[in-house]
Amino acid sequence: MVRLLAVSGSLRQASSNSILLQAAERLCPEGVSVAQYDGIGKLPHFNPDLLEDPPETIIELRSIIGQADGLLFSCPEYARGIPGAFKNMLDWLVSSEEFPGKPVALFNASPRASHAQAALRLVLDTMSARVIEEASMSVNLLSSELSAEGITTDPVIGPLIVTALDAFKRHLDNQNP
Ligand SMILES: Cc1cc2nc3c(=O)[nH]c(=O)nc-3n(C[C@H](O)[C@H](O)[C@H](O)COP(=O)(O)O)c2cc1C
Repeated sequence: MVRLLAVSGSLRQASSNSILLQAAERLCPEGVSVAQYDGIGKLPHFNPDLLEDPPETIIELRSIIGQADGLLFSCPEYARGIPGAFKNMLDWLVSSEEFPGKPVALFNASPRASHAQAALRLVLDTMSARVIEEASMSVNLLSSELSAEGITTDPVIGPLIVTALDAFKRHLDNQNP
């Protein structure tokens, strides 16, 4: 079983990025599980002074990241950049043992979010994550009324998600035969 951890970069209740990841959880192919991490809004602000004795929420975050075979990120763009809460989570993981080398699939719910996507790739590269291109995808959920359930039955977006998850599984299986 390939265990993926999904993290949305939006704290919004009706977030299109969160909905996309919830649809991925519903569309999991056989041999793949997707769990949602929805704790980014509760993490303390990153402070290097706390790295020696990190808060409990950070210990838990690192442990959850460590247990995942791969990460699914879907992150919106705010003011042409990465939303603060999501970047804050990444900052806590920079010096962790768990994050470097972690395979990441980048999902994107907005074709306009090019600056945030580029910034995120630069940050992930700096953190030695491995972005898996064949498992990454971009769709347009801007102004969409689709729910997670609606996405699973959408004739275009549903198959795109399944293809990405299949590719992620194949990639991870090839890494650990
Ligand atoms: C404060 C703020 C700033 C935004 N800045 C941008 C931006 O620079 N570029 C962009 O494409 N969209 C921008 N947006 C639009 C959001 O990226 C868009 O609404 C996205 O769907 C939010 O993601 P979510 O649905 O997952 O919450 C901004 C939205 C807000 C609230």
